[in-house]
Amino acid sequence: MSLIKPVSGKVYPVAVTASGVTITSDSGQEWLDGSSGAIACSIGHGHPHVVECIRRQLETASFLYRTQFANEPAERLAARLCDKLGYASAFFVNSGSEAVETAVRLAQQYWREAGQPGKTRVLSRRISYHGATIGALGLSGHWPRRRSCGGGLSGDPSLPTPYCLRCPLGQRPDSCGFACARALEDEIRLHGADAVAAVIIEPIVGASGAAIVPRPGYLKAIREICDRHDVLLIADEVLTGLGRTGAWLGMDHDAVHADIVCLGKGLNAGYLPISGVLVDARIQDLLTARAASFTLGHTHSNHPVAAAAANAVLDVLESEDLIARAASTGAYLGARLQEMSEDLPFVGDVRGRGMFWGLELIHDDISYAPFDPELNAADCVVRHAFDAGVLIYPAAGFIAGSAGDAVIVAPPLNSSHAVIDTIIERLAIALSGAGRELLVRRNAPTSNQQEPSCP
Ligand SMILES: Cc1ncc(COP(=O)(O)O)c(C=O)c1O
Repeated sequence: MSLIKPVSGKVYPVAVTASGVTITSDSGQEWLDGSSGAIACSIGHGHPHVVECIRRQLETASFLYRTQFANEPAERLAARLCDKLGYASAFFVNSGSEAVETAVRLAQQYWREAGQPGKTRVLSRRISYHGATIGALGLSGHWPRRRSCGGGLSGDPSLPTPYCLRCPLGQRPDSCGFACARALEDEIRLHGADAVAAVIIEPIVGASGAAIVPRPGYLKAIREICDRHDVLLIADEVLTGLGRTGAWLGMDHDAVHADIVCLGKGLNAGYLPISGVLVDARIQDLLTARAASFTLGHTHSNHPVAAAAANAVLDVLESEDLIARAASTGAYLGARLQEMSEDLPFVGDVRGRGMFWGLELIHDDISYAPFDPELNAADCVVRHAFDAGVLIYPAAGFIAGSAGDAVIVAPPLNSSHAVIDTIIERLAIALSGAGRELLVRRNAPTSNQQEPSCP
């Protein structure tokens, strides 16, 4: 087998078709896609409108290089996103990691053009995931991935994550006064505001924390601190952006406007690799006034076929009213997950928003102690779910100190209640099976090879 796989030596089933919310293997086995792949396929698989738009663009112009030509699909995509979401400009790359790196470089360029070249440092949080490239991983508090990278990462993801269940500052939500947000102010003072370009946050923590939703007011507090110290706010909405949480952007839940937004999974919905950044007028105007050259980008930046796919995804989000549907179906999904977990003592928390939910797995429902990492509890649940015919996503990391497991349930935004019911049925079977297995194994833990918990 020549293709490198996430776990070498493991035999993966071969999927031959994917349609709507169902994936079928060459042996005829079927799975419901309860995690939209890697929380990407937000409008389901094989949507005919997207397929048709991709085909048409391929027949029209399959590749145009951005330093030589403007292209209509990318221009239209930028204009639509900027109009809808209140930004001045957009730029497209291939992956969420590249979108994050583009955002960082833009922030640094902004300060250079503004005459403050010392503002280069980017602050980030201890539980976070911003991508797998060296720069994006350097900002990420996804410790299994960081460790697997060996040394050489820059970045210091040290800000506390707004995680009230296990408050990193030992505070209580009713009396803390957003101490986790105020820690940003301390950190900016520590380095000096003249050294800090930006802070990057996920509005709802994704792959490293399994849908950690901040309390209302947290994002506003972060915005205010950024404004007070002239630090840019980068919202990493690669996972949350374009409907996943029941709003166009995750930041909308607190009515906060970031200076730069990273988009990814919600933009491409898994069809073709396209991610991007949205840029606020304050930054764009300065760059335009300075006639700054924009040297970022890759061979396939602003790719016409990928942009046609993303335009088609936007068409579907709008015509099928999927943002509102994600909010209402998501409330149903959340209620069903809560109800299902009531009798499962090892599910310590059910949290999320819209069509993005996390189940935190605990070893002890009194102390809330996490499972021993050796048990790979998240992978165990994912495996049982796979066997029961539903795909979910592991989020093993350092959610609880130096351990912590969770799984993510995030089906396509256009899933019906009937599909949600079947996902819950299969998940209940999987969780019971995994619970039994973990009970046996925790008395005799063995070392397993761990699957990566991010894409
Ligand atoms: C919030 C966030 N940012 C960035 C990334 C990286 O995106 P990609 O895997 O497309 O590089 C991810 C991927 O999971 C993500 O969840």
